[in-house]
Amino acid sequence: MTNNKDETIAAAIAVLRQNDRGHYTVPTHGLYPFQWNWDSCLSALGQSHYDEDRAWTEIETLFEHQWEDGMVPHIVFHEPDDGYFPGPDVWQTHRPVPTSGITQPAVAGFAIRRLYDRSPDKSKIATRATTLLSKVNRWHEWFYRCRDPKETGLVAIIHPWEAGRDNSVDWDVAFEEVPTEGVMPFTRRDTTHANPEHRPTQAQYERYIWLIQHFRNLGWDNTQLHDASPFQIVDPGFNGILLRSCSDIADLAAELGEQSISKSSAAIVEKGLDAMESLWSDEFNQYLCMDRRRSELIQSPSIAGLLAIFAYIRQDRGKCIAARISDLGTRATYLVPSHDPAAPEFDGSRYWRGPVWLIVNYMIADGLQRIKEHTTADAIVRSSLELIAHNGLAEYYDPHTGAGCGGAQFTWTAAMVLEFLQMQTPKTE
Ligand code: GLC
Repeated sequence: MTNNKDETIAAAIAVLRQNDRGHYTVPTHGLYPFQWNWDSCLSALGQSHYDEDRAWTEIETLFEHQWEDGMVPHIVFHEPDDGYFPGPDVWQTHRPVPTSGITQPAVAGFAIRRLYDRSPDKSKIATRATTLLSKVNRWHEWFYRCRDPKETGLVAIIHPWEAGRDNSVDWDVAFEEVPTEGVMPFTRRDTTHANPEHRPTQAQYERYIWLIQHFRNLGWDNTQLHDASPFQIVDPGFNGILLRSCSDIADLAAELGEQSISKSSAAIVEKGLDAMESLWSDEFNQYLCMDRRRSELIQSPSIAGLLAIFAYIRQDRGKCIAARISDLGTRATYLVPSHDPAAPEFDGSRYWRGPVWLIVNYMIADGLQRIKEHTTADAIVRSSLELIAHNGLAEYYDPHTGAGCGGAQFTWTAAMVLEFLQMQTPKTE
């Protein structure tokens, strides 16, 4: 691409507009032709730089498809498209507009607070913000009711796609518990749009589909799915995002006069941040995922344990995470690899097993700035901007070579570029 700021902004806005379908945005043409949950919330931040109204609409559209129980699905299939598998015929959730039956990282609370804070005329958007606030709160309540039935303060994911980190090394051992017998015959479509070497393996896909069939057979009843799932992982990044969103809606609710949402969200945060301590590893100097069924920490140094810094975690933990990231910088050209390059499972071009993802960089950099770890935050922002300057607005990047991988012209990468340009610490002359 280019190093010129105005040209970079123009290129990013062009991608956002190109993937805009009017009231929602697709992650990229071809590979992902529907609306994805956390993609939309993060992409709305990018849209807010040039069209505030459109940014609110992006999140409003997503929440129009919230389930009656409060869940917000990970995909909304607005228009039929044969280019993606698994489509509505596999999920069979029987919604008026078809959706998937699982969820994704709850970044909406953070996003609406940021949109609100940025708005030049708050009185104009107060009603929209209040309406969304109560929907986001219902989603959060759903999480703690359905995904934390023992009230530990931390929620579990029941499918790798819920974490948004589809094929992370974190799942490898736990995934062995997911059978493959009885999986329907299927044809993947992702490998026709992207290099198969950059995508999850066939064995992983069979387990993804087995879980969908299993949940479908239980009628997508969220009062049953958690306990019935052979895969229950407490992911520190996922919980970190959720807790950050709870903190943000607690503040936003206070500002909008919604005292009861404010109080209950603050209580969730207090309990959740305490519980996060159970995921800390002194050995790895970061948080780790926990396999809830085995009650064991998963000894896998992935980005999930660093992403936790997006929540208002303890300052000393945040400092350790900053040190961990600097250390990763000695083993990778670009920050932040999604898995430690020193680990044998690391793969620099395969999806969530090593590549750099700009949305994760953004959330980590935000957390680092909060605790004034500016050197590390700046290094992440610099890496991110260099990646797009040299390799375009790709889905993700190889942390050694910087090569763009997966889909091209990617919406949330474009959105993050606009955010990073704003985050750059001004140089003092
Ligand atoms: C992939 C990613 C997921 C993302 C989706 C759409 O499945 O792993 O995080 O939401 O693509 O971009």
